[in-house]
Amino acid sequence: MAYPRVSTFKTATQFRNRLAELGVDLPCDDAILTAPESPLSRPARHGERTIENRWAIQPMEGWDGTSEGLPSDYTLRRWRRFGESGAKLIWGGEAVAVRHDGRANPNQLLINEENLPGFERLLGELKAAHREKTGSCNGLYIGLQLTHSGRYCRPNRKVLPEPRILYRHPILDRRVGIEDDSTLLTDDDIDRLIEDFIQAAKKVAKVGFDFVDLKHCHGYLGHEFLSAHTRPGRYGGSLENRTRFLRNLVAGIRSEVPGLEIGVRVSLFDFVPFRPDPSTTTASQMGEGIPEPSEGPYRFGFGVRADNPTHPDFTESLEFLAVLRELGIRLVNVTCGSPYYNPHIQRPALFPPSDGYQPPEDPLVGVGRLLDAARRAKQAFPEALVVGTGFTYLQEFLPLVGQAVVREGWMDFVGIGRMALVYPDIAYDSLVKGELDRKRLCRTFSDCTTAPRKGLISGCFPLDPFYKNSEVGAQLRELKGEN
Ligand SMILES: Cc1cc2nc3c(=O)[nH]c(=O)nc-3n(C[C@H](O)[C@H](O)[C@H](O)COP(=O)(O)O)c2cc1C
Repeated sequence: MAYPRVSTFKTATQFRNRLAELGVDLPCDDAILTAPESPLSRPARHGERTIENRWAIQPMEGWDGTSEGLPSDYTLRRWRRFGESGAKLIWGGEAVAVRHDGRANPNQLLINEENLPGFERLLGELKAAHREKTGSCNGLYIGLQLTHSGRYCRPNRKVLPEPRILYRHPILDRRVGIEDDSTLLTDDDIDRLIEDFIQAAKKVAKVGFDFVDLKHCHGYLGHEFLSAHTRPGRYGGSLENRTRFLRNLVAGIRSEVPGLEIGVRVSLFDFVPFRPDPSTTTASQMGEGIPEPSEGPYRFGFGVRADNPTHPDFTESLEFLAVLRELGIRLVNVTCGSPYYNPHIQRPALFPPSDGYQPPEDPLVGVGRLLDAARRAKQAFPEALVVGTGFTYLQEFLPLVGQAVVREGWMDFVGIGRMALVYPDIAYDSLVKGELDRKRLCRTFSDCTTAPRKGLISGCFPLDPFYKNSEVGAQLRELKGEN
């Protein structure tokens, strides 16, 4: 199924008509508003602090740290560009492992005592770039995302999964070669891991970040806790048990690092894993995504209907938000699913990554679903500052939808992921110039995901000359059979 490209809609009216045709409820303005008229230029209060505008940079890792877990020149360039974006909320920078065996790849950043100068440099360069571009760092609010990659750990070799899991999953175990219980974390292992997170959070504060994001999304360990319905013991079963990891983390951080703010990026809903339909897969193209068959009620997701696991169920998601409120957490970043097993809901794209499938729906439907989830979160928890995810696929219409959803109170921040790799200063251009550089808009070719799936660093290979014209760019084209 071919879907019309966003670039073919020449006006906001045409775009709104397409959304209406798809049944996607999203507001979209006619023209980009600059500061101070733009809703995206309004400051947001967060306790004693002010975040000066409503643009957020989502965490975007590059698979480009050193084997010790230090930032490389590539990492530094990405963070500088985050600083130049003009966005005043930097949500997490990128996923950083709290210990070596929890790294998603041998080049993921790792926080430990020896690496602190590397993190100081990242933060320093981001701030310097921001100051240079915008004149000051006033109202700039920066966090670091901490994680353990759980089922998706590959700490030692890019091709060697070394999963650590919370429960046996009938579909996902197969995908990472789990055949027995040997990779299950015990409750004692989890208690030790909580201590590692707390020690890492101390370091986050020492470096000078404003907040720590306790990652609960995208299929990694924090997220897996939320779906550990079948796990016995203290960390599985009831929602109380499934949020014990988070609650113990928060209690530990509050007691040991009292000044550090806490945020949570959460996959607020999920779908059963998808795979390419073998009946439409050809030698040159993978098939359209279809859900994996699952027997009986699906008990392996969070925020998904057990009887129909391609539909969100927000009942527990809203209960989770109530837990955040109880814990005094007011920074919430709403995302969904996982790039490993249902990329079409998590990062809507016209062109799939190499380990994906052709989109089973117009990606605008996916954007609508994601932004609706943020809206529900904000409705349920109005005192929270809610960051929405899934804006990149809107392309030309990103600022038009962004300013409308923030004006209408759906969410507080427009968070950009893939767009931040190729055109981070879309934030600055919208607020200051009121126009976009269309040549730099992400067209969702998914090479930023395909490259790491093929063992390379990430980056925008189709559009950013820095990557396109590099040796890695040539290698990627070779591996994709394009040379
Ligand atoms: C190359 C790449 C790296 C990413 N790294 C992270 C990460 O480190 N942490 C995280 O929470 N999400 C990560 N994401 C997900 C994005 O933050 C974001 O949720 C996703 O791209 C959808 O937003 P978008 O439509 O604006 O791109 C990554 C996505 C991509 C494509």
